[in-house]
Amino acid sequence: MKSLMFISLFTLVTWCGSYPQTRAICEERLGSVPEEWMYEPDARPSKLAALNVSLAEREDAHEDHPKLALTISWAISIDQSNDHLVGTWIRVVGYENSFRCQYQPPFNEIDTTGYEQLWFNLTGVEAEPEKTYYVIGYNIPTPMIGDDPGSKVTQFRTPGCSNKTMMHHDSCVRKGCIWDPNVTSIHSKNQVEVSFTSSKYSTEYIIRLCRSKSEMECTGGEYISKVTTFTEGESRWLTTLNSTGPCDLLHIELVPTFPGWHPHCARTRTAKVSCTPTGKYHIIMS
Ligand SMILES: *[C@@H]1O[C@H](CO)[C@@H](O)[C@H](O)[C@H]1NC(C)=O
Ligand SMILES: *[C@@H]1O[C@H](CO)[C@@H](O)[C@H](O)[C@H]1NC(C)=O
Ligand SMILES: *[C@@H]1O[C@H](CO)[C@@H](O)[C@H](O)[C@H]1NC(C)=O
Ligand SMILES: *[C@@H]1O[C@H](CO)[C@@H](O)[C@H](O)[C@H]1NC(C)=O
Ligand SMILES: *[C@@H]1O[C@H](CO)[C@@H](O)[C@H](O)[C@H]1NC(C)=O
Repeated sequence: MKSLMFISLFTLVTWCGSYPQTRAICEERLGSVPEEWMYEPDARPSKLAALNVSLAEREDAHEDHPKLALTISWAISIDQSNDHLVGTWIRVVGYENSFRCQYQPPFNEIDTTGYEQLWFNLTGVEAEPEKTYYVIGYNIPTPMIGDDPGSKVTQFRTPGCSNKTMMHHDSCVRKGCIWDPNVTSIHSKNQVEVSFTSSKYSTEYIIRLCRSKSEMECTGGEYISKVTTFTEGESRWLTTLNSTGPCDLLHIELVPTFPGWHPHCARTRTAKVSCTPTGKYHIIMS
C-alpha cells in the first residue's frame, strides 16, 4: 500500500513538472474517414488507450467557437509503435466534419521516458442540452480491413437546462434559465410597489400579491391582487399592486411567459415584500 502511494505521488509530481511538450493540432475535415483508410500501411501505431467525453464551458467562445462544447479527450500509449503514428482521427456521429489531429512535435522527437500514456483533448463540437453523442476515435494509419479496427467508441449524454453549466446554452437562456429578476418591493399605505428586471425573451409577466406563511411560495396562502405587465427588452420595470391588511406576510409572485416553457427555468419567482418603517408605522396607526 505504501509503495503504491509513493508511486502515484511521484507520477503526479513529474506530471506537473515536466509533461512531455507535444500538442495535438486538430483540423476539421469533411468526411467520416481519413484518406489513409484507402491504403494498406506497412506498420501501424497501437490502439488509443482511452477516449472520454465531458462537458466544458469555453472562455474563448465567439461565433465560430461554441460556448458550450464537448471536451473529447484521449490517451496515446507510449510504446515503440508511436514511430508510425501519423495522427488521431476523431468523429462525432451526426456532426458533418471529422477531426484530424496531428502531434507537434511528433512522438519520436520528444522524451517520453517514464510515461505510460499521454492525454490530449479537443473542444470543437457544440454541446446541445439533453442529447446523446457517440464519439469514435482511432489512430492513423488504420489497420487493414479485417484486422481489429482499433477504434474506441464513447457515448455521452449531455445534461438538461437545469444543469449549472448547461443553462448558459443559448436555447436554455431563451427559456429563462439564467434570468434573475431581482424583485424588490416596498409596502406603503394600501399599495405595494414592485420593481423587477425583465428578460428580453419574456415580454409578459403576471405579478401577484399574496399573504402566505411560507417564505418560498404563495401556494396555500391568500391572493390579494394581480397585474399583468408587458415589457420590452431587458430593463427595470415598476408596477403597483393594491394591498390590504398588514405587511408582515405579504409576498410577490412573478410569473414569466417564456416561449418553450421549461419547468425549472420558467418557474415563478417569489420574493418577500419589504415592510419599510413607513409601512410599519402605518400599520400601527391604523
Ligand atoms: C476515461 O475512459 C476510460 C475508458 O476508456 C475509463 O477507464 C476512465 O475512467 C475514464 N476517465 C475519466 C476521467 O473519465
Ligand atoms: C485539455 O488540454 C489542455 C491543454 O493540454 C489542458 O490544460 C486541459 O486541462 C485539458 N482538459 C481536459 C478536460 O482534459
Ligand atoms: C452538469 O453536467 C455535468 C456534465 O454532465 C456534470 O459533470 C455536473 O455534475 C452537472 N452539474 C450539476 C450541478 O448537476
Ligand atoms: C437588485 O436591484 C437593486 C435595486 O435596483 C440593486 O440595488 C441591486 O444591486 C440589484 N442586484 C442585482 C444582483 O442586480
Ligand atoms: C387599486 O384600487 C383602486 C382604488 O380602489 C382602483 O381604482 C384600482 O383599479 C385598483 N388597481 C388594481 C390594479 O387593482
